[in-house]
Amino acid sequence: MATQRQLSLFSELSEEIALPRPVNVASVPQRSPFRYPGGKTWFVPAFRRWIASLKSKPRILVEPFAGGGIISLTALFENLVEKAIMVELDDEVAAVWETIVNGDAEWLANRILTFTMTREAVEEELRQIPATKREKAFQTILKNRTLHGGILAEGSRFIRRGENGKGIGSRWYPKTLAQRVINLNHIVSRIDFRCDDGLKVMMEFASRKDAIYFIDPPYTAGGKKAGKRLYKHHQIDHEYLFTMCESLVGDFLMTYDEAEEVKEMARRHRFQMRLIPMKNTHHATMRELVIGRELSWLDELPTIRESGPRYSVKKAKK
Ligand SMILES: C[S@@+](CC[C@H](N)C(=O)[O-])C[C@H]1O[C@@H](n2cnc3c(N)ncnc32)[C@H](O)[C@@H]1O
Repeated sequence: MATQRQLSLFSELSEEIALPRPVNVASVPQRSPFRYPGGKTWFVPAFRRWIASLKSKPRILVEPFAGGGIISLTALFENLVEKAIMVELDDEVAAVWETIVNGDAEWLANRILTFTMTREAVEEELRQIPATKREKAFQTILKNRTLHGGILAEGSRFIRRGENGKGIGSRWYPKTLAQRVINLNHIVSRIDFRCDDGLKVMMEFASRKDAIYFIDPPYTAGGKKAGKRLYKHHQIDHEYLFTMCESLVGDFLMTYDEAEEVKEMARRHRFQMRLIPMKNTHHATMRELVIGRELSWLDELPTIRESGPRYSVKKAKK
């Protein structure tokens, strides 16, 4: 029994491969106006590789948990897909995407440029109840840039010391942010944004051959706390999400934290897994799980093969 368990553990674990060096996020164009907790900028190179590995070019990318949306934005700017369906349940985050998609990018950029950043001004602005969606969008950007870790969920506090002791304004780069917002005008006509439940929208596209899915849910499987602390909406039926992925006609990729419960679900649904190193906000190297139907395209990258409780380095295939 023990030997059988060991054998199956070995074959499962040897499927898990990771890149030894994390992606340098500075090498990836920053296109999102958000500094998003759990943002996937580090995943962009792997995402490009995935698209290149697909037999036919997909038309539609569905991103059911869009957040800061870096994957959809990259896919559109780099013409990897024709259209992106971005879904996000958080009404404040949604207000930003809706404002941009509805033609108010210039207004928002101007609002960012003309705001004078002081702690008092931020507090005064955030005391107002926004009368319009675009005002709400501006408040969201302001919160995202002045609250610790960009976290919009309850309990978040203002940045105190910040970068080089610059305090509350240490993440406020008005020109850069305004430019990012304006640049989005090049692709907005190809974004279909929905403030809705990502699982419901995935269902809508499930039978389409020309749709693919990048799925980055809040990490709450197995009682993990990260997702609860970072997002207002964090309750996801993970088992249902995995079951739905099985029924998708198009290909999909999921990213998750390295939790045993998640690995168990992936095994039960016969999906493949790889581990990819990434740097967290404290610059510590962590690993995240990538889950999909077929992940051999990731083997072209330098890998670490899990062969038991420890990790050993395996050279990249030439
Ligand atoms: C891990 S974050 C996504 C980060 C994103 N990939 C990025 O690069 O910025 C998960 C997101 O899912 C959102 N969310 C949670 N439940 C949702 C649901 N049922 N439908 C749509 N979005 C949801 C959260 O508000 C959060 O923004």
